[in-house]
Amino acid sequence: MQTNEKKVALVSGANTGVGFQIAKALAENDYIVYVGSRDLQKGEAAAREIGGKAKAIQLDITDSNSINTAVNAIETEFGYLTLLVNNAAISHAGKSGRTMEEVLGAQRASIAPINELKTVWETNVFATLAITQSLLPLLKKAPAARIVTVSSALGSLQINSNPENPYRSAFDAVYGASKTALNGIFLSLAIELENTNVKVHLVSPGFTATALNNFQGTDTVEEGSIEPIRVALVEDLPTGSFTGPANFSGPNNFLPW
Ligand SMILES: NC(=O)c1ccc[n+]([C@@H]2O[C@H](COP(=O)([O-])OP(=O)(O)OC[C@H]3O[C@@H](n4cnc5c(N)ncnc54)[C@H](OP(=O)(O)O)[C@@H]3O)[C@@H](O)[C@H]2O)c1
Repeated sequence: MQTNEKKVALVSGANTGVGFQIAKALAENDYIVYVGSRDLQKGEAAAREIGGKAKAIQLDITDSNSINTAVNAIETEFGYLTLLVNNAAISHAGKSGRTMEEVLGAQRASIAPINELKTVWETNVFATLAITQSLLPLLKKAPAARIVTVSSALGSLQINSNPENPYRSAFDAVYGASKTALNGIFLSLAIELENTNVKVHLVSPGFTATALNNFQGTDTVEEGSIEPIRVALVEDLPTGSFTGPANFSGPNNFLPW
C-alpha cells in the first residue's frame, strides 16, 4: 500500500557535483531519492554508489517529454513528492575545455553571444521553472513539502552592485545574471505559495571545484555542498529564504538579494 509516511525527493543533475552530494545526504537520512540525470547510465552509476534508497531517473529539464515521463513515474510510484531540489544548471553554452576566466571573459554583457545567453537561461531559468510547475501538483499532495533551488551568491544584485566587492567582475550576463532571474522567479513562487504546504528556498553552495567552473572552485565538493544539504534536509527555514555558505553570509547564513 502506498503511504504518505515515506519522504520522497527528486534532485535534478544528481549524477555528479553538488547534486550528487545532496542526493547522497538525503538517502543517508531516510529519503527515497530520485537521482535525476540527463544521461540515465550516469544516473544509474550514481544511484548505485549512493546505494539503498536512491533510484536513477532520466531527466533533462529542457525536454518536456523527459519531464512528463519523470513526473508520471513518480506519480505512479508514490503519488506525491516531499522535496524537489532544483540543482541542474550550466555555466556556459560555448566551447568546452576553457578556463573559468576565459568563459567569464566571453560572457561580459557587451559581447556575450545572445544565442549562448539564451541557451544558458533556458536551462538555469526557464527549464528550472518548467520542472517545478510540473511537479507542483505532487508537492501539494505531500503533508509538508519543500522546493530547494540551487542558486548562487553570484546572482545577488546587492553583493555585485557593491564596488567594494573584489569578486564582482565575475558577475557576467550569461551565468551570473541567470541566477538573478532565477532568484526573482522563485521568490515570486515563494510569495504565491506562502499559505500552502510548500516552502520555497534558494541556496548558494560555496565556490566549489566542479565541472561547472573547470574545477577551479576553492571548496571541495563536500565543503561546498554543506549549505544546500542543510537547507534541503535539516533547517526549517522561513519560506522565501536565500542563504549561502557560513563564511560569506550574514546571520543564519542569509544572503542579501
Ligand atoms: N560549483 C560552484 O562553485 C557553484 C557555485 C554556486 C552555485 N552553483 C550551482 O550549484 C548547482 C550544481 O552545480 P555543480 O557545481 O555541481 O556543477 P556540475 O558538477 O557541472 O553539475 C551540474 C549538473 O547539472 C546537470 N545538468 C545540466 N543541464 C541539465 C539539464 N538540461 N537537465 C538536467 N540536468 C542538467 C549536469 O548534467 P551532466 O553531468 O549531464 O552535464 C550535472 O549533473 C548549479 O545550480 C550551480 O549553478 C555552483
